[in-house]
Parts: sequence; structure tokens; C-alpha cells
Amino acid sequence: MRKKQVLLLKVGVVVWICILCVLFIHKPTTPSGSQKSQDLSNQLDKLEDELNRQSEFYNGLLDKLRIIQKHEESNDGVAVGSLHQEGPVLPVLLIACNRESAVRRSLDLLLKYRPSQERFPIIVSQDCGHRPTREAIESYGDKVTLIQQPDLSEIEVPLKEKKFKGYFLISRHYKWALNQIFQKFNYEVVIIVEDDLDVAPDFFEYFLATYPILRADPTLWCVSAWNDNGKAELVDVKNGTNLLYRTDFFPGLGWMLTKDLWKELGPKWPKSYWDDWVRAPEQRADRACIRPEVSRTRTFGKKGVSNGLFYEKHLKQIHLNNIYTPFTKMNLTYLIKDQYDLAFQRSVQASQVVSIGDVKAGRLNKAISYRLIYHTKDNFKKITKSLGLMDDFRAGVPRTGYKGVITFFHRGLRLHLSPGNNWNGYNPSWS
Ligand SMILES: *[C@@H]1O[C@H](CO)[C@@H](O)[C@H](O)[C@H]1NC(C)=O
Ligand SMILES: *[C@@H]1O[C@H](CO)[C@@H](O)[C@H](O)[C@H]1NC(C)=O
Repeated sequence: MRKKQVLLLKVGVVVWICILCVLFIHKPTTPSGSQKSQDLSNQLDKLEDELNRQSEFYNGLLDKLRIIQKHEESNDGVAVGSLHQEGPVLPVLLIACNRESAVRRSLDLLLKYRPSQERFPIIVSQDCGHRPTREAIESYGDKVTLIQQPDLSEIEVPLKEKKFKGYFLISRHYKWALNQIFQKFNYEVVIIVEDDLDVAPDFFEYFLATYPILRADPTLWCVSAWNDNGKAELVDVKNGTNLLYRTDFFPGLGWMLTKDLWKELGPKWPKSYWDDWVRAPEQRADRACIRPEVSRTRTFGKKGVSNGLFYEKHLKQIHLNNIYTPFTKMNLTYLIKDQYDLAFQRSVQASQVVSIGDVKAGRLNKAISYRLIYHTKDNFKKITKSLGLMDDFRAGVPRTGYKGVITFFHRGLRLHLSPGNNWNGYNPSWS
């Protein structure tokens, strides 16, 4: 136990200082008189100097010991989180503005679950110049790094988009902050969160395990912690916490991207609505993200800029995973495109075709999986509405869709909402 040694050393240092004090104070004294008093005064001055010097030396020593101890503690944390000291550094970028209590809530949870400060440095980027928020972030000391978006000038917004000004500010902030991460800090990858996200206990474990897959497969461009259809009644909360999927829909809300992707997107980053811009075919270029069955993030704040109704109806109801999954101990190569697509197509094809009526009747055998087929946009909307699935599209891609298929879990049944076998790509006119 290195910790015990450090403690013993500290005790030793304190004892040593006490011995020194006693020795000096009990120096033999001589008869009184003004000469003697002068001598004594000189001696006391010397003693004071000596003690100050010693004190400086021991303070230095104590600081060094504290650093060693801190290091030891973070290593213990690493052991618990099942990751090794060597390996990639995955910084977390937290985007913040003027919500002091939201920032605290986000940071508290990130810090609670962070297995190692060295492996997961947290950089909080603050826009908006809001002082209480800045002070809240600074109160975390060296546990996080604060950077501040310097351009607080009025942002140019087309007249008819005035009420969407928030989206313009966010876009400008993202661009600046990501440039800092990749150009100034020179990191290879980043996990982006905003100041309204709760994270799951295995949030860091999830990203650590999927990072090599993201690197290895050029048809992947992100890993997201979010399932757009992650309501408790649409996922296998108990037995599905280890399940991961590919999706053609960019989920955002706690996501990882590499420096290479930023080199591609950064120079043409849009002035606003960055997430829908990312979802456009020119940017996505047929690439997919990894997403979990059970969300590893949940949003707790109605954003000033986004739709309150959408929050109440969907975002708020996403179930946050609470069962730790040791992803780094699992073999995740099945997520790489060739392997995944083969298994995925087989599994969808092998599923028994049923109607929405069959599903609703509740008499299907739970041991096998099922396929609901849609042919038209109206078909799709009718089924998604009746099951509580998201029914919107971006550039023709439905949320969580992979090759047109929405995979979910409903009343104990594994279901694929799937196009017919003659499907030949997303239809961008579906919205
Ligand atoms: C739990 O999920 C695994 C696959 O992850 C599956 O093999 C097993 O049958 C499931 N168990 C139950 C009770 O659903
Ligand atoms: C991981 O799984 C794949 C099959 O999906 C297999 O080919 C590979 O050998 C496995 N790797 C390890 C380290 O077990």
C-alpha cells in the first residue's frame, strides 16, 4: 500500500519538526543580564530563521508527497474503472453559457464518474461572458480547465431568423471551442457534451471502449451516448444495457469525434443549425454513428433555444442507464461495418413479419424477434405514432435508423420497423 507509506512519511516529517523545536527551545540558558538578554534575542532570531528555512523545506517536501498521493489515488480510481494507465486520452468538452446551476449539475456528475483525470481531462468552454457561471466553473479548481470564447460581439442574424439567434451563437461557440481542442490543445479526439446533460455511470467506459472502433472503421464518423428512441418503454432496460448499434442518423447529445473529422467539417462549419447541417448528405457522406440501446446521457434542461414541447414529449422521457456495463472487457468488433451489416441484414430478414395489430394484441412469443414493414412515409408515421417512436426525418433519415430500419424493444418484444426488401436508400423528400 503506497498510500500507507505516504502517510507514514508525513507523520515522520511532523515528528522531526517537533524534535527540532524541542532541541532549540531547551538549549541551556545562562544567568540573566542585558548582555545575556541580547544574546538570547540573537539566538531567538537565529532560531526563527532556522525554523523558517526548515519549514520551507518541509512544506516543499509535503507538497511533493501530496502530488504522489494524488497520483496514487487516481491510479486506484483507474483500477476500479477497469482501464489501464497507458492508452488514449479522451478529453471531454463541456459547452457552457450562462446557466450556473446547470453547469454545476453537469460537472458534478461527470466528476463523480470520471475514472481518471489524466485520461479524461474536462475542458469547459464558456461563451456569453456570464460572471456567476464563470465563477461556478472556477470553483472546481484544477479538476477542470476553463476556456472562454473571446468574441462576445453582436452576431449577425438574418431578419426573419431573429428568434433563432441562439442557434447562431451556439454554432459560433462550437467552432471556436473545437478549434481550441484540436489546434491549441492538439487532442486527437473529443467527447462533446452541453451543460444540460446527465451522464450514466459507464459514460466514460462506453467511449473508451468504442474509441478504437471509431478509429478503425472509416464508415463511422461518431459515437453517441444518446438513443433518440430511448424511452423506458422502447428499450430493454434490464437486459439490453450491453447492446450497441450503428445508425445513419446523427444523434448528438454526448458524442465523440476525431481530429480528422474536424479537419473536414471545421473549415466549412455553418453559421447556425449545426446539427441539421451535419445530418445533410454532403456532410454525412453515408457514414454512421454508434449508439447504445439504453442512453448514457439524458437532457435535464429545456434549452432556451429549442422547442419546449419537444422536450416534454420526448427528450425528458429518455431513460438514463443505471447498470454499469464493462464495455472495455467486451469484444466490440461486431460494430465494424462488414461484420455488422451481414449480421444485421440476417437478423432483420430472419425476423417474423407481423402487423401493428399483432404487436398491440400482446400475444406474440417473446423468444423471437419481429419485423414491421413500412412502404410509404404515411405507413411509417402511423406505426411510429402508435408505438411512441420518433416520427421525424432529417434528409430523409428517421431517428436511430440504419438502412431504413428502426430497431427497438416494446413490451418484451424485439422489433424491427423496416422498409421492404426492395429498399434502395433514404428519400430526402420524407420529412
Ligand atoms: C439477454 O440478452 C442476451 C443478449 O444480449 C440474450 O442472449 C438473452 O437471451 C437475454 N435474456 C433475456 C432474459 O432476455
Ligand atoms: C472479436 O470477435 C471477432 C468476431 O466478431 C473475432 O473474429 C475476433 O477474433 C474477436 N477478438 C478477440 C480479441 O477475441
